[in-house]
Amino acid sequence: MKPVELIKDIFWVGVVDWNKRNFHGYSKSPLGTTYNNFLIKDEKVTLIDTVEREFLEEMLCSITQVIGKEGKIDYVVVNHLEPDHAGCLDEIVKRFKPEKILTSPMGEKAMKAHFHYTDWPVEVVPTGSEVSIGKHTLQFIETRMLHWPDSMLTYVPEAKIAFSNDAFGQNWATSERFADEVDRSTLEKRMAEYYANIVLPYSPVVQKTLTSLAEKELEIEMLCPDHGLFFRGEDVAFAIDKYMEFARQEPKNKAVLVYDTMWQSTEKMAKAIATGLVDEGVSVRLMSVKSNHHSEIMTEVFDSAAVLVGSPTHNNGILPGMADVLTYMKGLRPQNKIGAAFGSFGWSGECVKVLNEWLESMNFETVEPGSVKVKHIPTHETYGECYDLGRKVGQAIKAKLGL
Ligand code: FEO
Repeated sequence: MKPVELIKDIFWVGVVDWNKRNFHGYSKSPLGTTYNNFLIKDEKVTLIDTVEREFLEEMLCSITQVIGKEGKIDYVVVNHLEPDHAGCLDEIVKRFKPEKILTSPMGEKAMKAHFHYTDWPVEVVPTGSEVSIGKHTLQFIETRMLHWPDSMLTYVPEAKIAFSNDAFGQNWATSERFADEVDRSTLEKRMAEYYANIVLPYSPVVQKTLTSLAEKELEIEMLCPDHGLFFRGEDVAFAIDKYMEFARQEPKNKAVLVYDTMWQSTEKMAKAIATGLVDEGVSVRLMSVKSNHHSEIMTEVFDSAAVLVGSPTHNNGILPGMADVLTYMKGLRPQNKIGAAFGSFGWSGECVKVLNEWLESMNFETVEPGSVKVKHIPTHETYGECYDLGRKVGQAIKAKLGL
């Protein structure tokens, strides 16, 4: 790779992972990702974060192009210990023997647990601390639970750059480095996808952190996350506003029907419910768990006003594909949703009861009646019940959004 000088003496030395399709083993990344890290040339040469281990050589190649073969790295900043950012830390320590490794208080704990070192020169930098590296200063702000306890942001006031680690990230492998060089709608989609699948459960923390950053009145002219594109100029405010919008979880006039089906009865029910929703003017997504990965479903659920879940009864419960999606969804703690359940059955018929328990456990609002159950094959009457459920949920959405 070739380093990119973002501003005088501050370089991107990260890598583009064009082929990543399964981010962290649980979230789809259909357009790949990047691992961004940074090198500041100053009296104390400083590396901010590393990359995934398999890209060690590519990162070292970029670093060498900036500091030369005999060059030193004096300080290493570890904004976050997850292996996509600290995966090469031990190699950097071994090769460059830095004078200081700077990390948050929780970062020190995580670093010990990850690397089991005994003699690394770790210096803890809680919120408010700063370290001079020559012409530049590093200021540290902990961003706990955005999205790990150790997460931290590093700000360089002289350059007006904030290195935000995972916050503001997007999974998108590109040859461009800046948000103002790429298609805007794809960028927003990638931001939402990343937020919905990685950051969503920490939305209250995001609001608190952004408020506290605003109070600090940091002048930020460039915002550099560790994944995806960087924001500069007016795009900095765009990214921060977008995150505030995400964190508020304000629903749109949109419903997602998530379902699994065995002999298509539940699928036929989903289509009838969808018709009722459409007739109420709601934008609908029909998502079979067989055709859509749980992270793709969650990206659509994220900004929807209603989530309708369907499964036939299977072994006195629901189909395993639905259980997977519901487990994933619950963990991400979506807020402000209306919920409803539907499903077919042959004899015992527990599906709707089980689905309603899931909806209740996620504090979804319900409509009356909040579910439809069909024995074996839908009839003219039960199709009507499905359609009516769609209408009822559609009306509840409109009432909720004041439409
Ligand atoms: Fe990009 Fe939390 O790792």
